[in-house]
Amino acid sequence: MASTGPINVIAVSGSLRRDSFNTATLRACQSLAPDDMTIELFDPERLAEFPLFSEDRSAQGLPEPVAELCDKIMAADGVLIANPEYHHSMSSVTKTMIDWVSRSPDKPFNQKPIAITGASTGPMGGPWGQYAVRTCFIPLEGLVLNRPEVFVKSSKTKFDESGKLTDNATAEELGAFLGAFAGWIRTVGGQAR
Ligand SMILES: Cc1cc2nc3c(=O)[nH]c(=O)nc-3n(C[C@H](O)[C@H](O)[C@H](O)COP(=O)(O)O)c2cc1C
Repeated sequence: MASTGPINVIAVSGSLRRDSFNTATLRACQSLAPDDMTIELFDPERLAEFPLFSEDRSAQGLPEPVAELCDKIMAADGVLIANPEYHHSMSSVTKTMIDWVSRSPDKPFNQKPIAITGASTGPMGGPWGQYAVRTCFIPLEGLVLNRPEVFVKSSKTKFDESGKLTDNATAEELGAFLGAFAGWIRTVGGQAR
């Protein structure tokens, strides 16, 4: 069911690096989003407190930082993930985040609109990393936006020293991506909203 009203998105960066291009991409998204969309960046320092995943550990309940992210995802209209490609796959940070959130009895990703992007210093921008993330949302039944895809390639050339996006073409791509995500949320996000 299509919905109206403001859209709230929670964004998660798959990199804990202080000067991360993926976190910088999400910060750029905050200002490139449509007027009716607000993007909250989940604090990377909080994400750094997620333990490595173990079923023994999850049997004891969700660690507090995990529960915090789960609550934010449950309350959000959509989830935006920026994933760095590591060895043609996703980063361990992204995977740890997905594995932990998947253990919540609330199933925060189920039927949740999700958009995936990513920045990489390589010339292709990390497509294998993004596709690895997409695959996780098949069993989790997340509603992943198919297109447009944005691969922030050669990322060292796209941001200034402060982490500000300086490449106009990338800004346009991200703007179109976020506009499509808003449309996707309004189209499929009825249950989550
Ligand atoms: C362990 C490791 C593996 C990497 N593998 C890839 C890769 O397969 N493809 C790619 O394009 N970049 C690869 N990179 C480069 C990352 O894209 C680059 O470090 C990027 O800046 C990481 O994202 P961040 O800036 O958000 O931390 C790799 C980097 C590391 C540390």
